[in-house]
Amino acid sequence: MALEEGARSCLLRVRNRLEQDIKPSYLMDHMISDGVLTVDEEEKIRTQSTRKDQAVELLELLLRKDNHAYISFYNALIKEAYDDLANLLHDDLPNISPSVYKSFPDGCTPYVQTVLSEGGVPQRPVVFVSRPELVNRIREKLYRLQKEPGWVTVFGMAGSGKSVLAAEAVRHHGLIEECFPGGVHWLSIGQLDKPDLLAKIQSLCFRLEQSLDSQSLQRPPNSLDEAKERLRFLMLRRYPRSLLILDDIWDSTVLKALDIHCRILLTTRNRSLTDSVSGAKYEVEVESGLEDNKGLEILALYTKTKLQGLPEEARSIVRECKGSPLVVSLIGALLKDKPNRWRYYLCQLQQKQFKRIRKSSSYDYDALDQAMAASIEVLPDEHRDLYKDLTVLEKDIKIPAKVLSVLWDMEPEEVEDILEEFVNKSLLYVDSNNKPYLYYLHDLHWSSVLSLTWCSSLCLSPTTPKSTDRLW
Ligand SMILES: Nc1ncnc2c1ncn2[C@@H]1O[C@H](COP(=O)(O)OP(=O)(O)OP(=O)(O)O)[C@@H](O)[C@H]1O
Ligand SMILES: [Mg+2]
Repeated sequence: MALEEGARSCLLRVRNRLEQDIKPSYLMDHMISDGVLTVDEEEKIRTQSTRKDQAVELLELLLRKDNHAYISFYNALIKEAYDDLANLLHDDLPNISPSVYKSFPDGCTPYVQTVLSEGGVPQRPVVFVSRPELVNRIREKLYRLQKEPGWVTVFGMAGSGKSVLAAEAVRHHGLIEECFPGGVHWLSIGQLDKPDLLAKIQSLCFRLEQSLDSQSLQRPPNSLDEAKERLRFLMLRRYPRSLLILDDIWDSTVLKALDIHCRILLTTRNRSLTDSVSGAKYEVEVESGLEDNKGLEILALYTKTKLQGLPEEARSIVRECKGSPLVVSLIGALLKDKPNRWRYYLCQLQQKQFKRIRKSSSYDYDALDQAMAASIEVLPDEHRDLYKDLTVLEKDIKIPAKVLSVLWDMEPEEVEDILEEFVNKSLLYVDSNNKPYLYYLHDLHWSSVLSLTWCSSLCLSPTTPKSTDRLW
């Protein structure tokens, strides 16, 4: 399939400008990973003596390639923050026909990549394993937003993979084409105060207005009410049938500020957040962890080992991680640098020494105990102490509220309300098949709280995540 005429003319028109400004080496990495440029072609371009000559050679090659190459080049410009150059190519982006997108087995066509890059949806983590069942459950709920606006909540405990799943769910041609032709816009929220929330919405409005035309650019809204109205207008009139993804919501105030009758997917540890907003609501719980074979796949990918070549400790490590993608990934990343520490990390896990299993990455926290501490920190003071008490219970034992009513010396109804709060905030599990309900801690809850309690009597200040401030 040759390059469409419109795209070709556009490249010829803006060729000089591109040759002046681009750094081909950065762009080519993306194009190679999209499979539109070969390593030999890259080598040939790299051997040109100046940056400009390399750019000339790349453009020359691009003109002989196809629509996919044009789209991949466009995406590479966006990823490398050449937004103004990408805008020059935007209007002539070729349409990929449905028969072509079927050749992308996971539905992640160049069109999808473009829509998601423009909307700021994060890419997959470097080491990634698929979780088809959960992804399909989220997609199925998103399809329900096709006809009418509403909320899809993805909830679960710290590091269970909610944000990765949300990004993965929209990496699908059919879903975007049928339900969200207006695009997908990602907003990372985290714990923030009102001025920060206003700044986030301002930057979203700016991003949306900028993609329209220069006349749409207005002064930034200067209050939350004004920001809400501006966003409502943009989403309803200028970006109808688009999806807003709100990642990592902690407080319902954020949802009230964004309750604008549009289509929203949100990730949170707190199940009950959407109680305070109106419209259709759907939820997907990320309760089940990774299966053992997926955990092993993560370790194999990090350590560049074949599955069969993994040492005997690998399986025990995966079991100790209790299906947490975060913990397996942390250990994989550590083993990548220190490949002879399999036994050491297994022992640390067995002794619940989460402090030793720590590594900086794009994730907001460096370790599981930090990520968990953030959830405990936002509990009201008196409930935080009660939560700590739960560690006196034996691991893996399920108990009714009555037992805690003795331990805490409280009315059973009050105990039930507190336990419900812990469950909603993904700090406790409930077996609702049993009457009365039985409550229990996930092994990783138990270990993290224990390690926090031991080491600092819950002096939580050093655990504040990188991107956060405080609640209001
Ligand atoms: N499918 C996956 N494949 C490989 N690694 C994964 C996958 N899902 C999650 N991870 C790893 O786990 C980490 C945490 O995932 P993610 O950020 O999605 O968790 P979360 O549930 O959103 O956590 P939080 O409640 O703190 O927002 C990722 O940074 C990544 O390293
Ligand atoms: Mg998240």
